[in-house]
Amino acid sequence: MGSRTLLPVLYRNRLARLQKLLKAHNLSALLVTTPENRRYLSGFRAVDPQLSESSGFLIVGDQTTILGTDPRYEIEAHEEARGFFPFIYDRGLEGSWDKIAEKINGLKRLGFEPGGLTCQFHGRLKKILKKSGSRLELVPAADLVESLRVRKDPGEIRSIRKALAITEEVFREINRSLKPGQTERAIGWKIKTLIHQKGGDGIAFEPIVASGPNAGRPHAELTDRPIEKGESIIFDFGARWNGYCSDLSRTVCLGKPPDRFRELYGLVRGAQLAAQTGIRAGMTSQEADQLARGVIEKACYGRLFKHSLGHGVGLATHEAPSLSPVRPVSLETGMVVTIEPGLYIPDWGGIRLENMVAIGKGRSELLNTDQSFYEF
Ligand code: GLY
Ligand code: MN
Ligand code: MN
Repeated sequence: MGSRTLLPVLYRNRLARLQKLLKAHNLSALLVTTPENRRYLSGFRAVDPQLSESSGFLIVGDQTTILGTDPRYEIEAHEEARGFFPFIYDRGLEGSWDKIAEKINGLKRLGFEPGGLTCQFHGRLKKILKKSGSRLELVPAADLVESLRVRKDPGEIRSIRKALAITEEVFREINRSLKPGQTERAIGWKIKTLIHQKGGDGIAFEPIVASGPNAGRPHAELTDRPIEKGESIIFDFGARWNGYCSDLSRTVCLGKPPDRFRELYGLVRGAQLAAQTGIRAGMTSQEADQLARGVIEKACYGRLFKHSLGHGVGLATHEAPSLSPVRPVSLETGMVVTIEPGLYIPDWGGIRLENMVAIGKGRSELLNTDQSFYEF
């Protein structure tokens, strides 16, 4: 059970914002099982190694805040989630439910995060509640904490900037030492090592190094293909710092870039500049996407731009808002998003350039400092 007075102000404020949302949704409490949400609300850093494993949960109600975890994380939970007095369950979350039930006795509607637990776990929880004669109703409550995470505070933006600065430093070093014959896989592993050496917590996602025809696949995996002169090589990677992610793409060509590279690169860069200078609070995600897509469509290459313009970045590499033409959302000050137009031609290659911006009212702020773009 957490003591509100002992909680650091940051978490007290976040919990208070969530409690307002719970009231608006007529929920007594929320069972938080998404690792990033758990961390956002408590500071407890544990990740869930895979979908079927959990490092713990939070239950946040009006009067109740419980951080539950198992003995593997007992020390970390005490150290990281100050003021929470973690509840340590030793018979699995389900096996210990009777003890948890005592703590939340009297609650009526418990929201759960449909994207943060398995259908299997939900089924088991329902069964336990039924068996114990509990009248607690489980209610799907999607995206409540995500809606708080979507606008970053200055401290979060500082962490993202630092994560991006490490990423850019790694890119500069990789770019300087690039030579024909190096394989995508070797470069990918070097990226991971450099992220570690330059102070990152780890990688935000598996690095992409996609050369020649592989660059025609937007999410190519590393292969043993050696890079060659005269082809496009897409780099897409990011470091994590203080839990926060970064996401950077650059496309380079060793030797003399062929005409097609020059034409497509110029177009993608033009689309990126149009979007990163034009995007601002009050726009919809669809309008932002169109800033870049419009440039590409005007050149009749629209069908080669195979994904949305970008996505939010924070504790997760991909989070709200999606800068997508589908399901438009309104953009707000403090959102941090990528601007990453790309063109992909199967069997030839592709170009993707990805920057990050913090959305503002008048104009948005570019978080990148790297300016290693070709000017054709
Ligand atoms: N690596 C995928 C992306 O940039 O979103
Ligand atoms: Mn990326
Ligand atoms: Mn991205």
